[in-house]
Amino acid sequence: MDYLAVNVSSPNTPGLRSLQTRQALEAILLPLAQRRDAAATCGRRVPVLVKLAPDLSNAELDDALEAILAARMDGVIIGNTTLQRWAELRSRLAGETGGLSGAPLRPITNAILAQTVARLAGRLPVIASGGVLSTADAREKLDLGACLVQLYTGLIYEGPGLVSRILNEGWKP
Ligand SMILES: Cc1cc2nc3c(=O)[nH]c(=O)nc-3n(C[C@H](O)[C@H](O)[C@H](O)COP(=O)(O)O)c2cc1C
Repeated sequence: MDYLAVNVSSPNTPGLRSLQTRQALEAILLPLAQRRDAAATCGRRVPVLVKLAPDLSNAELDDALEAILAARMDGVIIGNTTLQRWAELRSRLAGETGGLSGAPLRPITNAILAQTVARLAGRLPVIASGGVLSTADAREKLDLGACLVQLYTGLIYEGPGLVSRILNEGWKP
């Protein structure tokens, strides 16, 4: 196992996102950090990262990052799907409830990624997620300061070859 993700940002589980407040997060993360460190003394240390929603306000993001830093987590994943809907969305399914993923998510996840990178100022690595359907999309996340990129919906539209395509194209000068 390369890492564990604490996913407190799925909008599809009622109440789950309320666990992103500083108090609720610390209640989960502080004991988790103790277990991670205890397990590390008898073998491999598995990094624990926290996955946040792109719908957090600036104050909520600050609060969550403070908790993540206080609990000595190993990184942040930003972000999960969104509950936001824009007038420009063209799909006849745009009004459905639940998390929206894929291309429309890219601008808002990029905005909160940039904020997260700025607020953390190098104290923790950031994994970027949201609307990566091409090499250019992945590159954009890295240019905004992410150290790794996660993708999901791109696999549906582009197929599993998307990952090797990005890896092959992404590092050309
Ligand atoms: C149907 C569905 C299920 C998901 N399940 C999980 C999950 O179990 N754990 C998790 O961390 N993220 C989950 N996600 C979030 C995705 O990993 C990803 O962060 C999000 O969809 C944005 O990226 P994308 O635009 O590449 O899909 C899920 C997303 C979708 C659409």
